[in-house]
Amino acid sequence: MAAATNIASYSSSVWGNFTQSGEFLRSWSSSAGNGGGGGRVVRVTACSAQSPPLQWQQSDAARDAAVRLAEERLQAGMSAQNLSSQEVMDADKKYLVPTYARAPLVFVSGQGCWLTDAEGKEYLDMTAGIAVNALGHGDESWLKAVTEQASVLTHVSNLYHSIPQVKLAERLVQSSFADRVFFSNSGTEANEAAIKFARKYQRVTSEKEEDKRWLKLGKQEAATELVAFKNGFHGRTLGALSITSKIQYRTPFEPLIPGAHFFDFGDLEGVEKLVRGGKVAAIFVEPVQGEGGVYPAVASFLRGLRKLCDETGTLLVFDEVQCGLGRTGKLWAHEPYGVHPDIMTLAKPLAGGLPIGAVLVTEAVSSAISYGDHGSTFAGSPLVCAAALSVMDRLQKPGFLESVTSKGCNLRTTLTEKLVGKNKHVTEVRGVGLLVGVQLDVSANPVVEAAREAGMILITAGKDQNTQGFLKFIPHGKLRDRLDDYAWQFLRSNPRSEACPKKETEHALWLQEQAPQQRLVGETWRLPRFAFF
Ligand SMILES: Cc1ncc(COP(=O)(O)O)c(C=O)c1O
Repeated sequence: MAAATNIASYSSSVWGNFTQSGEFLRSWSSSAGNGGGGGRVVRVTACSAQSPPLQWQQSDAARDAAVRLAEERLQAGMSAQNLSSQEVMDADKKYLVPTYARAPLVFVSGQGCWLTDAEGKEYLDMTAGIAVNALGHGDESWLKAVTEQASVLTHVSNLYHSIPQVKLAERLVQSSFADRVFFSNSGTEANEAAIKFARKYQRVTSEKEEDKRWLKLGKQEAATELVAFKNGFHGRTLGALSITSKIQYRTPFEPLIPGAHFFDFGDLEGVEKLVRGGKVAAIFVEPVQGEGGVYPAVASFLRGLRKLCDETGTLLVFDEVQCGLGRTGKLWAHEPYGVHPDIMTLAKPLAGGLPIGAVLVTEAVSSAISYGDHGSTFAGSPLVCAAALSVMDRLQKPGFLESVTSKGCNLRTTLTEKLVGKNKHVTEVRGVGLLVGVQLDVSANPVVEAAREAGMILITAGKDQNTQGFLKFIPHGKLRDRLDDYAWQFLRSNPRSEACPKKETEHALWLQEQAPQQRLVGETWRLPRFAFF
């Protein structure tokens, strides 16, 4: 292997200095020369030594403390892994099934909304692990809950009861429309369970002769079909994939489960025509489409679906895997619509980064489920449930959700003011809470790459990512005040022309908005320059 970058193997010739621009320059000279010889220069942005890196012009003592913290984090991140980014990427290529087109980044540590790569470069994380790290990286209360529970009991299987599992179920029930909860390990598994529960419910219900509604509809057999929406995403396992709209995800694995129907998001009339035929077991809908490009449902649409389901006995399933649990500024994304589902699926942020999924159901749905109908070895373990309880505590702490709303509002306002009408490729800024995005009429991929070069992690979403890109911002809920402006500054001050889109027209996003790389905001806030290696 090439030279390892474990700094413990370097001699103590460590020095550092501040540059005028506020960067802290660190260098390790290797006398041990473990294969590579020469020293390695690492730049740590001085401002990013504290999270967030906003209070830079401070006293010497504060500055020293910030530098010490940066140094510790850098050392911990690097020495813990003992591999360079390139070595990790080479090993990935060799040993892993190539299902992910990963960005060329290897992260070794995270704190708050900052991630550090194997070479010590820091990145502002505006993705939160695709809407997972609701409390940011390394949150103290979450860490305490996880380490305490891990030291007591991690896993017992679902053959036995456990205290964190019932406590979490109780909390979810008390905080929602639901009467009962089933735990899974991911979003796709939650939807898989929801499909099974919906089918079982329809089977049990259709067998009840006294159910007049079903007799009136002239149903002979239990309804098994499913309705879903274009641009919707529900997961990658076969059942959930059958109701995920992206054709390229589904085609290679056909035949999928039969009887899945896709409608335009909002096409109540089309859905109604099909559902009144009596064969549809459930309608799966995201109150705010996430992967599809952040589209909140129109109120009359969700309310119309509820009414239709009430009239026909079809179950209404809200997939809140991405938009739920505070992401929109409400605990549940469906809250402002004033309608409840029969089933709601959750996952991503629930355990703050540990794998979990949950299916929340009404008593009516639950009563159709018997022992042995579904299960999972790992699901709802004491460890993940303890983690999830700590996340719920935080989400439900007074002020947390309000702050998601105000931060999301600031982020949208900032992006709208700076981009809409000013850059010809930006057609819209939309979103709700901290699920925000910028619609472009060109591919967003080059912008994501350029932002990455500049030290900010963003992702894309949307319908046709090659022709109409969507830049998605899904920071964690603890995103500090002013980081919305900060995120904007990243986009605007990216100096790396070679990282910009190749086509001349696509350069516009960057070139039109080039700005000085440093700016004073208030008295103490200064945009740090980012380190490049
Ligand atoms: C709305 C929605 N449902 C389901 C899933 C699948 O979740 P997972 O990746 O945990 O299986 C996702 C993932 O992005 C999602 O956004």
